[in-house]
Amino acid sequence: MNRDTAAVHAGREDLTSLGAHVPPLDASSTYPLASVESGGAAYDQLAGGGRPRPGDSLVYQRLWNPNVARFERALADLEGAEDAVAFATGMAAVTASLLAAVAAGTPHVVAVRPVYGGTDHLLATGLLGTRVTWATAETVAASIEADTGLVVIETPANPSLDLVDIAAVAAQAGNVPVLVDNTFATPVLQQPLTHGAALSLHSATKFIGGHGDLMGGVVATTHAWAERLRQVRAITGGLLSPASALGLHRGLQTLPVRVRAQQQSAHRIAQWLSDRPEVARVHYPGLAGCDPQRLVGRQMSGPGSILAFTLRGGRAAAAAVAEHCRLVTHAVSLGGVDSLIQEAAALTHRPVADEAKPDASLLRLSVGLEDVDDLIADLAQAFDATHQMPAQPGTRELSHH
Ligand SMILES: Cc1ncc(COP(=O)(O)O)c(C=O)c1O
Repeated sequence: MNRDTAAVHAGREDLTSLGAHVPPLDASSTYPLASVESGGAAYDQLAGGGRPRPGDSLVYQRLWNPNVARFERALADLEGAEDAVAFATGMAAVTASLLAAVAAGTPHVVAVRPVYGGTDHLLATGLLGTRVTWATAETVAASIEADTGLVVIETPANPSLDLVDIAAVAAQAGNVPVLVDNTFATPVLQQPLTHGAALSLHSATKFIGGHGDLMGGVVATTHAWAERLRQVRAITGGLLSPASALGLHRGLQTLPVRVRAQQQSAHRIAQWLSDRPEVARVHYPGLAGCDPQRLVGRQMSGPGSILAFTLRGGRAAAAAVAEHCRLVTHAVSLGGVDSLIQEAAALTHRPVADEAKPDASLLRLSVGLEDVDDLIADLAQAFDATHQMPAQPGTRELSHH
């Protein structure tokens, strides 16, 4: 099945037999038990990370929910994965992946910066019992130790839009599983498992939900990893709510169309920004120079709809642009139908150590579904605000470009 068709129909195979057109919401927190014996057996099956057997009680929502399972089935199909496991948020998905590595007795993590500030914070603090070595895409192999349980990369990376060659990292990782944060690309543009990753993770809050009105996280992976992640989820409780699962499952239906339309506008805006005198540098994988390894076309089918840019006027100019946008909302998050802008160093990457913090003048822009000319007009009037400011010294360029 073509991916666009799967996006509309996956996880809905049994609806006709149920006499329903859309998935019915099952909000049950608990389920009736036929007997103590069969209930206990079902509990063991689900708490161990397994799927319900025919006729089994689902026991308790923390162990299984039909809406969550449907969304997981659909997402796994789009990612070309055997299975998927959904969580309350993207950070709950990162947490479960790290805890699974710790539980396996392999708490060392090799991670390539930049990654989302929350992920960076969780790894840097070692809160979950992990120990991190920060590597570059070239030093992954040299960073692996006897107890390395996970290699963590993000491509395109938040907020610099740097691309990492997944297959090259997987080759260096050898037997160590590679987790790719695929939030920016979505399964529409990139399927990390086909390039050798073991886990493809999303903040489903972003493109998959797509409308800024729910939170979720999901990991597409193998059956064996899915069992481990479900077990962690059952024990620690970071589960996706059934109502949010329904929203995410619906979000998947329009995901390919949204991603392609938003990407088209982002490309135009990236080109427009490149010609603006106020802009020092534009980071967008679709621009010449931003993808030296030519991964767009090989690893990703398109550059996506998130971009970032630095301003010659430094942090004050970046703040002025963000604060003067009218149509584009000054807010964190990304991937929705409406455009959002934010200064990464001050907000999403605030907890990141100084040596790895993004440039203070870097604005991240998530391009939505508005008319692209309206978006450009809004940015143009916001740029005008920077001309009212006193002159600033030139801004520092991102050192890794
Ligand atoms: C790339 C990436 N990964 C993970 C997360 C965390 O997701 P959530 O906010 O749903 O916990 C985010 C959130 O901004 C993100 O941008």
